Amino acid sequence: LHVAVLMGGWSAEREVSLMSGAGVAEALETLGHRVTRIDMDRDVAVKLAETAPDIVFNALHGTPGEDGTVQGMLDLMGLKYTHSGMVTSVIAIDKLLTKQALVPHGIPMPGGRIVKSESLYEGDPLPRPYVLKPVNEGSSVGVAIVTDEGNYGNPIARGVKGPWGEFEELLAEPYIRGRELTTAVLGGEALGVTELKPKSGWYDYDAKYTDGLTEHICPADIPDEIAAACKSIALEAHKLLGCKGASRSDFRWDDSQGADGLFLLEVNTQPGMTPLSLVPEQARHIGMSYAELVQKIVEEALS
Ligand code: DAL
Ligand code: MG
Repeated sequence: LHVAVLMGGWSAEREVSLMSGAGVAEALETLGHRVTRIDMDRDVAVKLAETAPDIVFNALHGTPGEDGTVQGMLDLMGLKYTHSGMVTSVIAIDKLLTKQALVPHGIPMPGGRIVKSESLYEGDPLPRPYVLKPVNEGSSVGVAIVTDEGNYGNPIARGVKGPWGEFEELLAEPYIRGRELTTAVLGGEALGVTELKPKSGWYDYDAKYTDGLTEHICPADIPDEIAAACKSIALEAHKLLGCKGASRSDFRWDDSQGADGLFLLEVNTQPGMTPLSLVPEQARHIGMSYAELVQKIVEEALS
């Protein structure tokens, strides 16, 4: 196959996407495919038309790339592409729309509301502890956690305009104390459950992409009941949103509350494919190599 690997772009996760794209492109070559690497810019449609690939591997993360815009363009161009389609992407990139789509179906998610960033200088939008996050970013870009004991990434506490300076609005949701879990779904199957234990206590951008800063426990050392719940919720969310290819559902689990303490935070429709990423790691644990994972994602897009 001739595969165009779309990566980079201009989202806040550009660097992550370049790492994902490099890994995917190399794997595709080892699988014997012809690969054209495309760093997305404003001329991407022209480049894709000239390349005329059999399929596009979408290795973009964030906005644009994971948000439906690129998917809509590829639909108009009549090009096949990996991962989720336009409508699914539009909903899943938006953490509030995702709640609105999933909670009525019984998927447990923290409540949340949109607040104006400026209003944060006047006081707390929710009882502490709470989380503030851009509604449509990834990799913890712009996330702050505000607790009574201290603040993580909170510009108010530092007396400066914060990481969210560029975000006029933020999603505020109650912070779930406890543990960070994640489950990948591929081909109608949940691959496993991983627990993330960041050394700093915060699974932020650096903890996600710096080797050694986070311990990944795969499979997670948690009760069977919780592991089964993660898998069934991730699978159900994948289906309800209409995801294709790989998705990854991120959870918080308040282990003092048993099964009632498990909450889905979000569904990532373009999960990372970097050397430290979680979907490849879960695949490896069930005996699927990185290249096999890439091949399966391509095959699902062709079917
Ligand atoms: N947003 C990053 C790429 C992830 O979900 O893995
Ligand atoms: Mg995300």
